[in-house]
Amino acid sequence: MSKTTPTDAAGKPFLTDVKTLRERARQHLETGNVTATYKGNVSQAIEILQSVLATEIVCVLRYTMHAVAATGISSEGVKDEFAQHAKEEQGHMLAVAERINQLGGTPNFNPEGLVTRSASQYGNGGNLIEMIRENFIAERIAIDHYRELIRYFGDDDPATRIMLEGILVTEEEHANDMHDLLVAHEGKPSLPR
Ligand SMILES: [Fe+2]
Ligand SMILES: [Fe+2]
Repeated sequence: MSKTTPTDAAGKPFLTDVKTLRERARQHLETGNVTATYKGNVSQAIEILQSVLATEIVCVLRYTMHAVAATGISSEGVKDEFAQHAKEEQGHMLAVAERINQLGGTPNFNPEGLVTRSASQYGNGGNLIEMIRENFIAERIAIDHYRELIRYFGDDDPATRIMLEGILVTEEEHANDMHDLLVAHEGKPSLPR
C-alpha cells in the first residue's frame, strides 16, 4: 500500500532540502494541498471518507431523533446526553466533509443511499433503554471502523489519520457514556466488555 520512503545512512527518512521544497511547491498548483509527498491514493481516500461522512450524518440524525423522542421518568439527563452527542457528531460530520473538499472531492450529503454508505445504522428508536443500546452499538461499530481506517491511512495521509484519531477519541467517550447509561438504567452492562 505505502510507497517506500527513502532513508539516509542512519535509516531515518530523508528530508528534502529547502530549495527542492520551494521548487516543488510551485509545480502542479491545481492539486491544491495534495502535493508530491502525498503517498496515499486520493480517489480511494475520498471514497472512504464519503462512507465516514455518511456514518457521521446517520449518527447526527439518530442522536437528534433520540434527544427529541426519548420519554420516561428518567429520560431528562439522557436526553441532554443524546443532544450533546448529536452536536459532537455534527462536528465530526463537518470535519470529514472539509477533509473531502481539501482532497479535491465533493462531500456527498445526498440523502439517497445514505444508510447504504454508512457503517452505522439509524435504528428504530423504541424505549429509552433500546435507544441507549442502539447508540452504544453504533458507537462500537464506529470505533472498530475508525481504528481500521487509522491504520489504513497511517503515514500515507497523516492529516486524515490525525483527524480520524481525534474523532475516535470522542467515539470511545460516547461508547463509554452509553455503557454507563445502560448500567445506570439496567444495573448491569448489556453487552460483554
Ligand atoms: Fe462521530
Ligand atoms: Fe459518537
